[in-house]
Amino acid sequence: MSKVVTIERHILEQQRAFPHATGAFTGLLYDIALAAKLIARETTRAGLADILGAAEEHNIYGERQQKLDVFANDTIVRMNDHTGRLCAMASEENDDLIPIPDKHPIGRYVLLFDPLDGSSNIDVNVSIGTIFAIHRKISDGEHGTLEDALQPASKLVAAGYVVYGSSTMLVYSTGQGVHGFTLDPGVGEFLLSHENIQLPSKPAYYSVNQGYEKYWTPGVRSYVKWLQGVYGEGGTPLAHRYIGSMVADFHRNLLRGGVFIYPGDLQNPKEPYGKMRLMFEAQSLAFLVSQAGGYASDGVGSILDIQPSSLHQRVPLFIGNRDLVEKAENFIREADQDWIRAYLPFRQGETTHV
Ligand code: AHG
Ligand code: MN
Ligand code: MN
Repeated sequence: MSKVVTIERHILEQQRAFPHATGAFTGLLYDIALAAKLIARETTRAGLADILGAAEEHNIYGERQQKLDVFANDTIVRMNDHTGRLCAMASEENDDLIPIPDKHPIGRYVLLFDPLDGSSNIDVNVSIGTIFAIHRKISDGEHGTLEDALQPASKLVAAGYVVYGSSTMLVYSTGQGVHGFTLDPGVGEFLLSHENIQLPSKPAYYSVNQGYEKYWTPGVRSYVKWLQGVYGEGGTPLAHRYIGSMVADFHRNLLRGGVFIYPGDLQNPKEPYGKMRLMFEAQSLAFLVSQAGGYASDGVGSILDIQPSSLHQRVPLFIGNRDLVEKAENFIREADQDWIRAYLPFRQGETTHV
């Protein structure tokens, strides 16, 4: 029988590679895994919330009736605010930095997260996810500040996601490869199922919301046509898959090869940056994809190099196999100079996002 590796054991074994590690970091990843199990449990019960709530006179299921994204947010905050491992948190669901309450010890890391990705899929029984990223505290004071949160993705110490799909999987990297764990619901443990994930060199899919084609810039249109094999080069078309939960789209493409696209456009020239959030979605997946041999770009350059200017900053996103993403940059450079001019001030932090 092959050896069974729980996520805790894996984190501990990885920590041995860092002789100065204190264990705080290991504990932090473990706490995230625990929060993921709680969210997974609620996710599988999501369709029952109304039925159970209605059947219970005293409504002891009050918490379960909360919207799942609020539950996920509260769960991650509650699991991590008192452990002494964090100096602050930031969530897609909160406008500002989430401070560590005074009564709790302050730690050396910042946790950023999208508690529930793909919220529009919750009520229709389609895969959803959680995304997280961990930066090291860099400011001098005791408490964490925005400066600690707003670091480029190249400085991440760890990142990962959980996908609540036909099974629940947690995928993470500390910069030593990308590793995937599948939740065994019987024993309640994440078990190593995908060691050292690398993108297949031959991609299978492209993922984009094709419904918005009329808003696309000329470069993005040409690029997607190229993905469809319209321009030949002897290439067969890539199949199109789009779930609408980026975590699930990304996870599938990571295992099968391909590119996920959420472009910027000039529909409103004041908002040329698309939809994805830099701090809660793009940074984490950019770190993971680079660890898996791929590349993430905003259409202009690497996501890893963007110096963030605000917590809720948005970026266009092209992420997956390196050659496919670089091709997007080429098409955009050739045909979308108007868009680049409108977008660059946001990339460079000269104009702050809404
Ligand atoms: P969230 O649920 O965290 O707000 O994120 C939704 C995101 C992402 O998961 C998905 O890929 C994208 O929105 C889908 O957007 P469209 O419906 O515009 O395609
Ligand atoms: Mn999201
Ligand atoms: Mn979300």
